[in-house]
Amino acid sequence: MKQLITLNVNNQNYDVVVTPMELLVDVIRKTVGLTGTKKGCGQGDCGACTVLIDGKPELSCLKLAVASVGKKITTIEGIANEDGSLHPIQDAFLDHGAVQCGFCTPGMILSAKALVDRNPNPTQEEIKTAISGNTCRCTGYVKIIDAIESYANLVAEKEAK
Ligand code: FES
Ligand code: FES
Repeated sequence: MKQLITLNVNNQNYDVVVTPMELLVDVIRKTVGLTGTKKGCGQGDCGACTVLIDGKPELSCLKLAVASVGKKITTIEGIANEDGSLHPIQDAFLDHGAVQCGFCTPGMILSAKALVDRNPNPTQEEIKTAISGNTCRCTGYVKIIDAIESYANLVAEKEAK
């Protein structure tokens, strides 16, 4: 049976009608209309569908929309600056050539941002662990890790001021 729920996505409330088994990734993409979140494998293997839920990376293909009521959901669309310019971590990915086809990028960036939000001085190992659930078939990861390190350095510099 369908039900009306309210999802908070990127600090905006959306009233959506869903079935009990509808996946968060599908509701975000099809009902809310935010297609930055990608659906790859649909079974928890690739990380393309990663969103932040209350600041923590979660796989939205493994989460029911009804289980996300009352939480703060952040998608890639939600991290840009208010004037529409890119978030510094997005700039870092572009500057370092860490984006090729871009399919993994939204999830990768959200996993990396969550890491740096809680630890602005991550080691390479910590970066690798943080993105270990995000598969990239194009870049070979080196440039992605460079981009995340560079963003973390920027954040650490700002915090030191
Ligand atoms: Fe969710 Fe692949 S689409 S992990
Ligand atoms: Fe193509 Fe990562 S840039 S999968």
